[in-house]
Amino acid sequence: EASTVMRNLLSLFDLSTAEMESIFSIAADLKAKLAKGIREPLLQGQVMGLLFEKQSLRTRVSFETGMAQLGGSSLFLGEDVGWGKREAPQDFGRVISQYLDVIVCRAKSHEKVVELATHCTCSIINGLTDLFHPCQALADLMTVQESFGKLKGLKIAYIGDGNNVSRSLALACAKMGAEFMIASPKGYELDQPFLVRVDQACPDAVVQQTNDPFEAVDGAVAVYTDVWASMGQEAEQAKREVDFADFQVNKKLMDAAAQEAIFLHCLPAKRGQEVTDEVMDCPTSRIVEQAGNRMHAQKGVLVWLANQNG
Ligand code: CP
Ligand code: NVA
Repeated sequence: EASTVMRNLLSLFDLSTAEMESIFSIAADLKAKLAKGIREPLLQGQVMGLLFEKQSLRTRVSFETGMAQLGGSSLFLGEDVGWGKREAPQDFGRVISQYLDVIVCRAKSHEKVVELATHCTCSIINGLTDLFHPCQALADLMTVQESFGKLKGLKIAYIGDGNNVSRSLALACAKMGAEFMIASPKGYELDQPFLVRVDQACPDAVVQQTNDPFEAVDGAVAVYTDVWASMGQEAEQAKREVDFADFQVNKKLMDAAAQEAIFLHCLPAKRGQEVTDEVMDCPTSRIVEQAGNRMHAQKGVLVWLANQNG
């Protein structure tokens, strides 16, 4: 009789603003409790599987430690389970989801995660695909919220590639009422179909694009960047270094942002390329706290999903 429709987090399009707020609130509560040494076993006995096709430090370790703190356990499943290779997706998905309560996927193709979700009877969380990185954006906005006590009306600037990280950040800002402006080189902007979808989901949102980094950072309280070539784009590295040359976040660009502006980066960074050492290590850089918040935000997601799925 129980509903078999499981909630997933494939992208932030899966969450309403109120649902995102619930996740932030659970995350903040669990973070405050952990700081006092309290680890409530809210997910005791639950098992999370991690299906990863790409390298990871933050996503893998923060999900595994977060789950352990909640009293659950996790299985890291690399290439050897043969996802998409050894057997048909419907066989793989129906079998693996009998064993697990939740699956975190890191995949080359977003479509592959969407397809897995159609065959699974447990929740699927996107731990990064070519299109989206929703858990990153939740940690990003949690960090901005902690720095300024609010999100609504704040301007967040993203300098660089219209990629998985900027797409999720744009959508997260749109849902939470923060203003978002991305500055990308010509040819690397966010795609129009995505922007139309954001506009349909969040008609009041302010999501803007420019090719001028100084226009993007003007009035921004957070300046964000990511690598110029993402995992899987290694062959384009040299060309991108030329195309993105004017899009480095350095002191001059930070000085053009709001006086109190913080610096954010999803990490890993290529120091000296998209960002200078000086900015990475400056007093207003929040990169370490931001990476720390991956764990807290994802604990919020895990507990929230478990509550939805009853
Ligand atoms: N930011 C992020 O997702 O880091 P990892 O690739 O190390 O998981
Ligand atoms: N855009 C980067 C983010 C890594 C966390 C990538 O996809 O490689």
